[in-house]
Parts: sequence; C-alpha cells; structure tokens
Amino acid sequence: MAVSVKEVAAHAGVSVGTVSNVMNRPEKVSNETVRRVQASIAELGFVRNDAARQLRAGSSRAIGMVVLDIGNPFFSDLVRGAEDKATESGHAIILGNSDEKVEREGAYLDLFEEQRMHGVLISPFGDIEPRLRQLRKRGTPAVLVDRTSREGDFSSVSVDDIAGGAMAAEHLIAQGRRRIAYVCGPHEIRQVADRLTGAQNVVRAHRGATLEVLTGSALSVLEGRRAGESIIARSPQDRPDAVFAANDLMALGVLQALSKLGRLTVPDEIALIGYDDIAFAGAAVVPLSSVRQPSELIGRTAVEILLEEAADPSLEKRHVVFQPELVVRESTAGAPLAESGHRE
Ligand code: RIB
Repeated sequence: MAVSVKEVAAHAGVSVGTVSNVMNRPEKVSNETVRRVQASIAELGFVRNDAARQLRAGSSRAIGMVVLDIGNPFFSDLVRGAEDKATESGHAIILGNSDEKVEREGAYLDLFEEQRMHGVLISPFGDIEPRLRQLRKRGTPAVLVDRTSREGDFSSVSVDDIAGGAMAAEHLIAQGRRRIAYVCGPHEIRQVADRLTGAQNVVRAHRGATLEVLTGSALSVLEGRRAGESIIARSPQDRPDAVFAANDLMALGVLQALSKLGRLTVPDEIALIGYDDIAFAGAAVVPLSSVRQPSELIGRTAVEILLEEAADPSLEKRHVVFQPELVVRESTAGAPLAESGHRE
C-alpha cells in the first residue's frame, strides 16, 4: 500500500499543507521543518503522486516526444538535443517510438493526452494534425519536428529537404555521375518525398542525367541492403553509376551489399551518398558522403518553441527551417571508372 501525504504529515508532526509546501515550495518553510519532513518521507518511503498533481495543475513537467525510428541515430541525436533543453528548464522527455506505424503513433498521442503532458513533440508518420488539434483544444500544445505543418497551424522545426535532395544530386552530377538511383523508404514520409523532389528538379535540369527510384518498405539498413542486392543482380550496363539514399541507414545497407556481396567498388563503379550525417557515416568502411542535418539543434529548438507556447498559447506559430549541409567523403570522391576500367 503506497504511503500517503497524510501519513508523512503525522509522522513529521506537521499539516498536510506543510508537506505539500516542502515538496513544491520549500522556500516557504523553515529549514528545520523541511529537514524533518524530508526525513519522514525517506523513512516511510513516500513517493509523490504526480498524476494527481498533473490533473490539478493541468499539465505535468513531462514533455511527450514521438519519433519515427529510435533505432536511427539521427533521432537519438535529435532527442538528446531536446532532452538537454528540457532539463535546463526543469522538464523531462517521455519518449515514444512510432516505428513508422500510424497505430503506434496514435497510441502514444492518446497516452500523452491522458497523462496531461506539458506538451508534445512529434516527428509524424501519418496525417496527425487533426489529432493534434484535439490535444491542443484540451490544453496540450504540440510542435512538429523534422516536418513542416500542412495547414501551418502548428509550429514546426525542420530542414529544407528539397534543398537537401538537390544538393545530393548536384554533387553526384558534379562528380561525373549520370545514372542516379534514389533508394528510399515509404513516400508517405514527407522527408522522403521532399528529398526526391529536390533530386528530380536537379536531374531534370541536366541533359543526359537520369534518376530512377528504388522504394523499400522502411528507411532501414536491411531495406538499403535489399536495394543494393537488386542493383548487383543487374548486368553492369544496366546499373546506376551513383546511389542517393534517403538516409544514412539505407546508404550503409547499400554499401554492405555493393562492397561485401557484389564486389563492386564504391565510389569507382558506383558513388554513394546518404542523408543525416549520423556518426556511423564517417566511420563506415568507405567513409560516407552525406547531407547533414543539425539534429541536436532541431531537438533543442523544438523544445524551446514548445515551452514558450505552453506558457502562452496565443503566441504566433513559428516555422523554423534549417538548411542542410553537404559533407563530402570517400564514397563520392572522383569521377566514375570509365568502361575501360581506368579513372577518367
Ligand atoms: O526517419 C526518416 C528520416 O527522416 C531520418 O533518417 C531523417 O533523415 C529524417 O529527416
């Protein structure tokens, strides 16, 4: 049976209100009384019931956060930035992983609403803005992370993925590549679709350049490896001379297939560029070129906006869009090997 505030008050010889002050407003209580009450809390093993306080106060110290794939280091970096900013202001992050599934996304939003979270940060998979409007109506603000708001009525912190996709394609073409394959996950993920749009815009402007799309079921190493295996299975003249992967995890899967299974050389036979610039990109067996996102900064900025909106819901919605950055490494260096097998 959990110890109650009443039992702590009786044990310390003070009122229930004094126990509450010791926990929430200790500056209103003498040091001696604070010490005595804290000794009773420790001796009885009392644990405060935040749920009750949350309901009374209308919101907790906790911020709910839903990411697409906690296995992707991009999101762990993003969460780290959010957590650093949240703890600076006495808040904590409660993390949920939607695993790119609509039903899991919805279940976390239900849980965060029941728990009266201070606010919600979400990197959406589905079209969750109607659901977020319900939450907001009941007092829980939300900020979109790594994605802009369709109707613009939610603040968001994202990266210009169209510019990022264009950057990747421009770099490959500048390296002399002309047959590009875009290896990606579900196009429902706006980031995936926007990166493709950026690459298509650039390829369309370069005569002789082509872009094919290899769509997997997820933005994962396994799906990247499957795409790489499908490339190996083709005759040499039907293969692309460059791959732009929608994120670094897929690029690492493509690299595994090409170099380990297919004995193809990266970048000589096929150049390869990813997106996010996670730590494993630079550490890969062929250091991976990538389009870098400021993942920790995205997380910090999203919490900053959320806390301000939780304090003043009338604030104007903001849409922070960071610019991606091209990071060139060995996996795209140099021109393709000419058919004759020597470097041009
Ligand atoms: O999870 C989908 C991808 O979109 C991540 O790799 C990251 O690039 C995000 O922007």
